[in-house]
Amino acid sequence: MQVLDRAAAHEARGHRVVRLEVGEPDFNTCEPISAAGIEALRRGQTKYTSALGIAPLREAIAHQYEQRGVRIHPERVVVTAGASGGLLLLAAALLNPGDELLITDPGYPCNEVFAAAVGARARSVPVSPVNRFQPSGRDIAAAWGPAVRGALLASPANPTGTMVPANTLGEIAGVIDSRQGFLIMDEIYQGLTYAPVDYTTVLEIAPQAIVLQSFSKYFGMTGWRLGWVVVPEALIDGITRLAQNLFISPPTVAQHAAVAAFTPAAMAEHEARRAQFAQRRQRLLQGLEAHGLRVPVAPDGAFYLYVDVSSSGLDSETFCLRLLDEFHVSCAPGCDFGSNDAERYVRFSYTTDLESIELGIERIGRALERFRGES
Ligand SMILES: Cc1ncc(COP(=O)(O)O)c(C=O)c1O
Repeated sequence: MQVLDRAAAHEARGHRVVRLEVGEPDFNTCEPISAAGIEALRRGQTKYTSALGIAPLREAIAHQYEQRGVRIHPERVVVTAGASGGLLLLAAALLNPGDELLITDPGYPCNEVFAAAVGARARSVPVSPVNRFQPSGRDIAAAWGPAVRGALLASPANPTGTMVPANTLGEIAGVIDSRQGFLIMDEIYQGLTYAPVDYTTVLEIAPQAIVLQSFSKYFGMTGWRLGWVVVPEALIDGITRLAQNLFISPPTVAQHAAVAAFTPAAMAEHEARRAQFAQRRQRLLQGLEAHGLRVPVAPDGAFYLYVDVSSSGLDSETFCLRLLDEFHVSCAPGCDFGSNDAERYVRFSYTTDLESIELGIERIGRALERFRGES
């Protein structure tokens, strides 16, 4: 938040800030989705819906899993107010006061807040470049304690962009099963991957897992606040009651718009955007490495690079604040994502166009000259 506020202050003073801290696509929602949303408004589809979402959307979501060889009944698809709404529902359904939830450090910073909101606690599993910033089955087993009820992992993850390899995922699922725990896999960056992947959903490997998904990232719909979870049958009743009470229903216009997200025209647009992200990723990776910054693990997906800035001679928070104040490039310090080696890492997002990325790389080069010259 400090970085956001400072970046905005520099912009207000007329400086061009290269924004490499933003966690949402710079593209607007594509035309077929927006058109469907406008049409829904015109037709007056503005009332509450079923708490679990409209049938055509739940069916469309189930269908796109089926196209990937995973059969799930639409009843198991729960449409939510973003993945954030899904996280709140899952926390409320699965955790009691005093329970513990395993999460990774670094990881998505809000995860621990969802656990805390229902009186539970997050227990961190430190991850590092040695395991591509993802836990192994052994790490999960070692972190498990009497109060742990399950694990929440992400693949690809924020802030590192790395995926859990398929064989590791199988091991993790086995460890959790043997403890009668639950595995929630946050797949909100699925689709935004840049090399062949060995699975597209945890359900291919662990059919009993819970999937957290969103229309925010791959589908470019952050502001529409729409996501979904896929839950085992045994959870449907509890989740239904919670959804009715906590949300009444997910946003109606957004749901009608999102039905169009899976049409061939919209998917072609999403894939074209993915190709642009791939180009940007490549350029930023090259540019930072050419300046001697280490990217210990080339990410598989999302739109982030998790970069070791220790060669600058500064800790990551000072690096971010000075890069912003003196060179007008904003990025997110590792301490936003946990405490494990956080002073070494910075997250750069490539959610801006190539021209801005070039400018950012050039400014970062000048910044490093200055910082290294001082130490
Ligand atoms: C890993 C991860 N999970 C969940 C979310 C929440 O996304 P939303 O509520 O927009 O679907 C985010 C947002 O950045 C995220 O990075």
